[in-house]
Amino acid sequence: MITCSAPAKIYLFGEHAVVYGEPAIACAAELRTYVTVEPASSTTVVSGGVPTRIETTPYITEALKKIRRIHPIPDVSIQITSDIPTGAGVGSSAALTVALLQALSIEFGVDIDVLQIASMAYDVELSVQGAASQTDTFISTMGGMALMPDRMFLPHLECSIVIGDTNMRGKTSTMVSKVAELKNAYPEVAEHIIKSIGILAQTGVPLLESKDYLGVGRLMNINHGLLESLGVGTFPLSQLVYRARDAGAFGAKITGAGGGGCMVALTDKPEDVIRSIECCYGKAMVVKPAREGVREE
Ligand code: MEV
Repeated sequence: MITCSAPAKIYLFGEHAVVYGEPAIACAAELRTYVTVEPASSTTVVSGGVPTRIETTPYITEALKKIRRIHPIPDVSIQITSDIPTGAGVGSSAALTVALLQALSIEFGVDIDVLQIASMAYDVELSVQGAASQTDTFISTMGGMALMPDRMFLPHLECSIVIGDTNMRGKTSTMVSKVAELKNAYPEVAEHIIKSIGILAQTGVPLLESKDYLGVGRLMNINHGLLESLGVGTFPLSQLVYRARDAGAFGAKITGAGGGGCMVALTDKPEDVIRSIECCYGKAMVVKPAREGVREE
């Protein structure tokens, strides 16, 4: 029996634009999904203590399919527990896929390294979502913070990260399709927005290197406006974003696919930001950057 865990992630810059090859900066966050696997007489999934039909778990079904192409994996019992809010834009599906693939590869002696785990997890996301970047799966596998798609690691954040959850959910595949539709309808407008998001990520690199979080926050605020203009914002998300800014956050924006889910703020006043977000029916928490990616427990 093997248990592996993998962390959540937040985007400081670049979600959606990264699907079109633009730069993005994402950071692993110390919330984890734990997956235990062991050989069994039939393949079963228990998630959060609840038996779950495998047909309703596309990431698990796809992960098993992909790993079985390179190694014969027998029937297996899969048990999942997670601190990561599900489908909320903080990388729950990437963490599940990465932790599962790593646990299977150790348990059944599959000869692959962590970069191959990241790449296989990306293929899984691509199959399930229809379009995906390598960001979520790479960051969840490797930990730390990196400029993508270059995989250039950046210094660890030294301010607090606050995640605010609207308690509503948007589906990544739906939000990715929504941006694609906008891009088809108004290619020139949407392409400029997408390019500008990429420029924000590039501009953020030296600011993150010099720990200029005021500057980073300012760019995050612009990135939020651009995500709104791509149509992935919601009223509750913006309410939490403005609450965080009003409480003195350096910057705040949607994180992940949007359409619901979470926003992220960088701040040196985490308690004030949490209080302000929770005034607005959101759920907020401070998360530490995760230096470690996927690991055996
Ligand atoms: C989802 O967490 C981030 C998106 O950019 C999709 C992706 O990069 O795969 C919306």
